[in-house]
Amino acid sequence: MSNEEWISRTREAVWHPCTQMKHLELTPPLPIARGEGAWLIDHQGRRYLDAISSWWVNLFGHANPRINAAIVDQLARIEHVMLAGCTHAPVVELSERLARLSGLGHAFFGSDGASATEIALKMSFHFWHNRGRLHKTGYVSLQNGYHGETLGALSVTDVALFKDIYAPLLRQTHQVVSPDWRLAEVEESAEAYAWRAIGQMEDFLSECADTTAAVIVEPLVQGAAGMAMYHPIYLTRLRELCDNYEVHLIADEIAVGFGRTGTMFAYEQASIRPDFLCLSKGITGGYLPLSCVLTRDEIYAAFYADSSARGFLHSHSYTGNPLACRAALAVLDIFESDQVLLQNRSKAARFNELLAPVMAHPRVEQMRNIGMIWAFDVRHADAGFSTRFHIAALRHGLFLRPIGNTVYFMPPYVIEEAEMRLMADVTLQLLQEL
Ligand SMILES: Cc1ncc(COP(=O)(O)O)c(C=O)c1O
Repeated sequence: MSNEEWISRTREAVWHPCTQMKHLELTPPLPIARGEGAWLIDHQGRRYLDAISSWWVNLFGHANPRINAAIVDQLARIEHVMLAGCTHAPVVELSERLARLSGLGHAFFGSDGASATEIALKMSFHFWHNRGRLHKTGYVSLQNGYHGETLGALSVTDVALFKDIYAPLLRQTHQVVSPDWRLAEVEESAEAYAWRAIGQMEDFLSECADTTAAVIVEPLVQGAAGMAMYHPIYLTRLRELCDNYEVHLIADEIAVGFGRTGTMFAYEQASIRPDFLCLSKGITGGYLPLSCVLTRDEIYAAFYADSSARGFLHSHSYTGNPLACRAALAVLDIFESDQVLLQNRSKAARFNELLAPVMAHPRVEQMRNIGMIWAFDVRHADAGFSTRFHIAALRHGLFLRPIGNTVYFMPPYVIEEAEMRLMADVTLQLLQEL
């Protein structure tokens, strides 16, 4: 079957995510037949470099032999069993290893990122309820933050395009100014700006801590805001404020966990530990939907009682799916055996060298990089810029989806020198053409 036939059938049968379906008339979806390493391949054999890791999920390439083998092995044992009333080796081993890595325990599993957000929000509220602090029902998050699209997650998200229409359905939450260093004054350092931004959080908490259950943030990088990066001092200070005001700190590391920012978890760079850690996306190397929330023992203990109602009775049918857990265990094995964090450091340094001509381009501003994320903003970009850039990049075999006027790269960690060169060269050419 040809690319065109699949495009026509998908438009008839599938409602695509985050898409105005009518726009597919002009920008049809890529019909992907298979993947190989960092590459996506269509039905006519055309190859596209997956420079954004398929929505930030893929860590070790498509059709990775080691992850494939783990899933195939698991398939012959048990594909799925409900986790209420049963348990299995993959979920136990994964929970143990995540606890060792994060210093937080009792992994509670969901499927997608948004379900992890929901779990953390509910757990926080329920903890305070179990402690008799019945008024602690509110949440505070950052302006331009993104935590998913289900109603609870959307309530703490601050992206007008996704949120405004659903306002009548959402809980009231509070947003404080983002520490995004692009918002700093001229001559103001990222660190100085982070101190200024945290002041607004302190003002809020000093007034509203009694009615606030938790603060939720994306540590170091606000992805959907256009890879907005900020100084770790914001998180260090936020941890202190949360301790002082008795408010939980939820780290949404759904996008930035598993090495994206250069450390296994981004919060490590602020020398802190959150009360709740939300993980998803890269957890299975981009293979299967899995998310989880880890928490402190003291929080877990507040639910441990004879009464069922004090327990956390939340569930999803596929909670702790064994295939997904085996994929995640294979991912953690690769991190260990291949010294991925170390390797990524030299890859990142090399890509920064290759990007030098892009950085020097007169249309490029606010060039930023942390770990395996790069982004810059394009001057004089009109409303159609991101679509035009996306389409033009595809013609050169590069799969990129700018956010507004922000072009970003978030490649799989298996990216090679020649592929990094392609990303840099095509980007430079497009900046000249568009
Ligand atoms: C920081 C963050 N939180 C939550 C989510 C939601 O995850 P999912 O799309 O898997 O529901 C995302 C997705 O991009 C995200 O970047």
